[in-house]
Amino acid sequence: MQTRIDEIADGVYRLSTCVPEAAPGGFTFNQFLIKGDEPLLFHTGPRGMFPLVSRSIARIVELERIRWITFGHVESDECGAMNEFLAVASRAQVAHGALGCMVSLDDLCDRPPRKLADGEVIDLGGKRIRHIDTPHVPHNWEARVLFEETTRTLLCGDLFTHTGDGPALTDSDIVGPALAAEELFHATALTVATAATIRRLATLQPQVLALMHGSSTRTRCDEALVELADAYELMVKQREKSA
Ligand SMILES: [Fe+2]
Ligand SMILES: [Fe+2]
Repeated sequence: MQTRIDEIADGVYRLSTCVPEAAPGGFTFNQFLIKGDEPLLFHTGPRGMFPLVSRSIARIVELERIRWITFGHVESDECGAMNEFLAVASRAQVAHGALGCMVSLDDLCDRPPRKLADGEVIDLGGKRIRHIDTPHVPHNWEARVLFEETTRTLLCGDLFTHTGDGPALTDSDIVGPALAAEELFHATALTVATAATIRRLATLQPQVLALMHGSSTRTRCDEALVELADAYELMVKQREKSA
């Protein structure tokens, strides 16, 4: 396996590793490194990928300099290697929403995590990261996204997940592939609140959508979020009808 590195926005690096057997056509696991005076990592990858991912990150920034370890929610591909990163970066701290800290991370992290309130900003020095609670979107109670304000990059985690090993950035539609992957994985917690939560993210007017699984995009970002919300809302209504 190889990890590709692309700068998808100024100082926002995408590290992408395709696992061919994870889905038909392959499935990418992506981490994002935000450069600043206090470098921030979004997603650690699972523990088994730590040697590969950490070697790749070290090509962009010294591991010891990483200050913040972040992720969308508590699953192994998002945060499995968080303690490995805490071990190699002595100033690093996990930062997550207060709920996720209380439910899981206060116990799981080898050093106490920083608890963030909804909307709270971490100033990285040159970049500004806003924490946004999105409970159960796309899944897990402690789910959240991050918004980098200077590049207007929405670190959307598992939202828009799609299969294949496409380019780092695509101009193509990402909603259709996300709905096809939803048919395959049924990974999204489809509730009456899902669409409203995603529509709120569209009001941020992001200029980059940084995806954990699949290609990121700089094209029609807010429209894509609204289209995804509409499609999920329809699915919820159809389920209610057939129940
Ligand atoms: Fe997930
Ligand atoms: Fe994921």
